[in-house]
Order: sequence, then structure tokens, then C-alpha cells
Amino acid sequence: MPRKIILDCDPGHDDALAIVLAQGSPEIDLVGITTVAGNQTLDKTTLNARRVCTVAGITDVPICAGCPAPLVRPLVTAAHIHGESGLDGPQWGEPQVPVSDEHAVDFIIRTVMESDGDITLVPVGPLTNIALAMRKEPRIVAKVREVVLMGGSTARGNHTPAAEFNIIVDPEAAAAVFSAPWPVTMVGLNLTHQAGAGPEVVERVRALGTPLAGTVVELLHFFASTYKAAEGRPHPPVHDPCAVARVARPELVEVVDAFVVVETKGEWTSGMTVTDLTGRLGKAPNAKVATVLHREEFWDEMVDAIAALGQPGR
Ligand code: BDR
Ligand code: CA
Repeated sequence: MPRKIILDCDPGHDDALAIVLAQGSPEIDLVGITTVAGNQTLDKTTLNARRVCTVAGITDVPICAGCPAPLVRPLVTAAHIHGESGLDGPQWGEPQVPVSDEHAVDFIIRTVMESDGDITLVPVGPLTNIALAMRKEPRIVAKVREVVLMGGSTARGNHTPAAEFNIIVDPEAAAAVFSAPWPVTMVGLNLTHQAGAGPEVVERVRALGTPLAGTVVELLHFFASTYKAAEGRPHPPVHDPCAVARVARPELVEVVDAFVVVETKGEWTSGMTVTDLTGRLGKAPNAKVATVLHREEFWDEMVDAIAALGQPGR
């Protein structure tokens, strides 16, 4: 039985791959895409979700726009990684899929409350929509099956030395999500840095020869150039599909139980996901923390998804 997910995202190059993996994987039933401000402003991330769905032939999944700014802080974007459009690289045509009239927060609440308790939330951007949905309808916390998020790190950050981007953009929202009594899995940088898209991956995708594969190659090309400039990495890490992969094929992403808390007050450490892997704080674990990616199988799953969506009629 495919796992039902709502993908909450801020496309974003790796968000685009998360959308493709979610729709292309036979193990996932993508019931909705919700957008949030993060990598770029909300108007751009929403347009980008529609662009990706158009190229991938995803016409039957609602796209709902959510929050244009974090709960309390001003929005910070990541143009240095994703470009001014949020999805620089390919030439995008006019999107052929609409945006829903329903706000993302209301979509999340309605879908979860109407469900049999089988919806997994997969947030791969700042956690603003998820925190606001919890506040507006606290009963979703007991009803959601689990939250599997891309964000944070067991070690260092990427936006500051301490903080990963999705968490530092809205630390108050992240703190609310981690402290709520629902099952949370943190797929952080320590895991996603194992998902570098090297030349052999790019060639596998290129060889598929479909328009979607061509777009993915262009996305990876741009992403590689900005990651090299920003972090000196030879291969860009595709963070967001790692969270989708954990839901689709749990054995691809190994986890450990740990206590995780989001720092919101530190002058230099705000947005840090303080992760107690050795139990020093004496706190009960409140999260599963991703540690090891089975890289070959992950890329097999990703390439299969791109190939599946490239087929006529999908
Ligand atoms: C996260 O930040 C964004 O730039 C990416 O899309 C990913 O979700 C990585 O820190
Ligand atoms: Ca993202």
C-alpha cells in the first residue's frame, strides 16, 4: 500500500527532485503539494512547483500556496544557491497546472482531519506552514501518521556555522514541530551530504533522454555551480528527496533515536538542532535522526522515478 504524503516545499532545485521522487515512486501516494517561502519568496516557490509539475506531467495533485513569511522573523532566501527565480538553470515555459484556491495550512488540516490517520507530512522547506497548521488545529498532531522532515543537522550548519537553512529561516516554527508529541524524523545535513549528484548520476539521468530528464540535468548543472561556489563541494547534495526516500523505502535511510531541540535564543547558534546522540542530557528521545544513506539504492530509486514520469501517459 503506497504511503500517503503531503509534500511541503519551497522549490528550489532539490525540492524539484523531491516532487519528482514523490510522484514517480510506486511506494508513495502524493496527495498534495504545499508551498512556503524559503529558498525564494512564496510567489516564486509556488510558480516553481507548478513549473516542475508541468514538466513532470503531474496534473492530478493539488498545489496549495501557504505562508509568505516565517512566524516571527523576516524572510531570508537562498538566491546564492537557487538563483533569483528559485529554480535557475532551465528555460521554463508557462505552467500548465493551476494553483488551488485553498490555503496550504487549511489544506493540510482538512486532509489530515478527513483521513484515516494515514497521512505523513514531508516538509522540505522552513516549517512555517506545519507549525501554523498545528496551532490552528491542534488535533492534527494526534492524527498525522508521522512527520519526516529535511532540516537541521547532527553537526554543523550550512547557513550559519550552527544552523541549517530550513531551520534558521523559521526557528520558532521548527521548535514547535520538534516539541510536539508526534513522531518526527530529522533528515539533516549529516545525511543529505551523502547524496551528492556526481557525474555518473548526471549521465544516468541524461541517458534517459526524456524532456523531464533533460530538465533535471539542467537543474543539477546549475545546482553544482552554486554549491561549488558557496561551499566548494564537488557534487551538489540533493537534500530534499532524501526525506521522501525515507518514507518510500525506509531501509535506504538508517536512523537512530535521539533527543533534538531547536535553539531559538542563541546569539550565534539560533536555528541549531542540538542533537543528543549519546544521552548526555538525560532526556527521552523525541525524534528519529537519519544517519546513513544507502547511496546507490537511493540514486536507483531517484533515476527510476525520473524515468517513470518521462513515460507517455504518466
Ligand atoms: C535545505 O535548504 C534549501 O536550500 C534546500 O532546498 C533544502 O531544503 C538544505 O539546507
Ligand atoms: Ca527545500
